[in-house]
Amino acid sequence: MAIKKQPTVLFFDSGMGGLSVYKEAKKLSPDCHYLYCFDNAGFPYSEKSEEEIIARTLNVCQSINEKFPLDAIVIACNTASTVVLPPLRERFSIPVVGTVPAIKPAAQRSQTKHIGLLATKGTVKREYVNDLIERFAPHCKVEKLGSTILVEIAEQKIQGQSVDLIALSNELKPWKNMADLDTICLGCTHFPLIKDEIQICLPQVRNFMDPGYAIAKRLKHLLEDAEINSEKRLPQVNQVFSTKELENPEKLKSALLLWGFKELNLLNE
Ligand code: DGL
Repeated sequence: MAIKKQPTVLFFDSGMGGLSVYKEAKKLSPDCHYLYCFDNAGFPYSEKSEEEIIARTLNVCQSINEKFPLDAIVIACNTASTVVLPPLRERFSIPVVGTVPAIKPAAQRSQTKHIGLLATKGTVKREYVNDLIERFAPHCKVEKLGSTILVEIAEQKIQGQSVDLIALSNELKPWKNMADLDTICLGCTHFPLIKDEIQICLPQVRNFMDPGYAIAKRLKHLLEDAEINSEKRLPQVNQVFSTKELENPEKLKSALLLWGFKELNLLNE
């Protein structure tokens, strides 16, 4: 079934990681009007309290929705998705899609039944994630590694800096000697963007589970059934919002052009 009209969809993350999910959505639903907001004033979310993450996310989504009536919201951040989905769904009547670490497919795919969850420090300690592991991977040995440094490395890469492979390798040290760890859940949306570098540090890993495509499919399905309220406004450029002034906006602007975003603006300017 095709999506009716041209829905306005907001992608939200603390940083640029959500682009790994947006990329899949853009391929599957190319005609949507996409807005991407990254809360760089609150970045990183990894070690922030649940209350702060909820408050920040609700504020940003509310503020964007006032400017551009939204038809759907994608919380393209695992750390936020573990806590904000119920309050967001209470506040907004439009579809709200979250990201969940791909524990279930990882447990199915692993040959050795030894899998790893690579996520932020916040995500690995949430009850929600333990429940997923208990429900979908009771027959697997599951390692959990929470890292803020990896998030920062990925963010720097997208913003045009080189990847510090030594720092990356140090962060992944606990898993280096686990020869039968064959499957890793990329449980932070930043990590698909440094997958190749992670693979260099952990050559034994055969499968990297990235939920991007599944989220894009879910979004498409919800949009097919959704009431599309946003008016067709012209010009409808796909644009990015930051919550804090950037040090080097020109560099990011040219990177964002490659992702199909023509404008970079400050929210609430
Ligand atoms: N991209 C985010 C996630 O998926 C979080 C990064 C951060 O710590 O801010 O969890």
